[in-house]
Amino acid sequence: MTRTVYVNGDYLPEDQARVSVFDRGFLMADAVYEVTSVLGGKLIDFAGHLTRLKRSLAELEMTNPHSDDEWLAIHRRMVADNGIDEGLIYLQVTRGNPGDRDFAYPSADTAPTVVLFTQAKTQLADSPAAKVGISVISVPDLRWSRRDIKTVQLLYPSMAKMAAKAAGADDAWFVEDGFVTEGSSNNTYIVKDGVIVTRALSNDILHGITRAAVLRFAAEAQMKIEERNFTIAEAQAADEAFYTSASSFVMPVVSVDGASVGDGKPGPVAARLRDIYLEESRKSAV
Ligand code: PDD
Repeated sequence: MTRTVYVNGDYLPEDQARVSVFDRGFLMADAVYEVTSVLGGKLIDFAGHLTRLKRSLAELEMTNPHSDDEWLAIHRRMVADNGIDEGLIYLQVTRGNPGDRDFAYPSADTAPTVVLFTQAKTQLADSPAAKVGISVISVPDLRWSRRDIKTVQLLYPSMAKMAAKAAGADDAWFVEDGFVTEGSSNNTYIVKDGVIVTRALSNDILHGITRAAVLRFAAEAQMKIEERNFTIAEAQAADEAFYTSASSFVMPVVSVDGASVGDGKPGPVAARLRDIYLEESRKSAV
């Protein structure tokens, strides 16, 4: 089936969707994005993704081209037109096409480029990987230092993912000054003696929407949380490890740099948080 793609107000068959070669998203990675999951045909954590989109745009002095209601309507139409019951919606806003290549930002009357597309996934909630857990390797964090802005500068995370694949692992965790920052496309956690440990929010990491929800649910379930840095050695000696993202929800990590975490199987805290997250976020889906 040909997907319907959204480009600047038009809903088009994917082979008719066009963006200029002069677009700053293409030339400069001058663009921000969001990934929202869809379960049961509804948007998960949509309000959070919208809030972060607006923050990313504001940090880069880009105009927000749509009201909240318009963004919701576009997302909903993308779900409907593409018949998505379970999957992801990708949204990207670039600084647009100034008609030429120039390092300086174009004047504010250059319209942003807005693109959305969907990816159907059949086993997002009932994920086989979540049942067995995944393996990660550590790599140095060589990204820029404004990781709180969700930009499309994803080359280094792609390189890290390839390094993980080459090492026979599933994903990579970034390490800076001896401490884990986050995963290639997720926020990272360990569990030791019943305490959930995750790095505190700063410009060093993306402020995950799933992270915020999972920590809220964990606190409501009286689980103990410490927001602090942790090392790879601590992760290897932890009882459990896991990561969170819009595309994986809560994903158990059972091996870090070749060392088994706990008994090498997904642990009860990650499993419980995944269940709570799925149940609660389905309830509040829009
Ligand atoms: N990635 N950290 C990084 C570097 C990320 O790229 C992501 C999300 C997260 C988790 O954020 P959230 O819970 O809001 O999805 C943390 C998305 C899923 C992606 O690039 O596909």
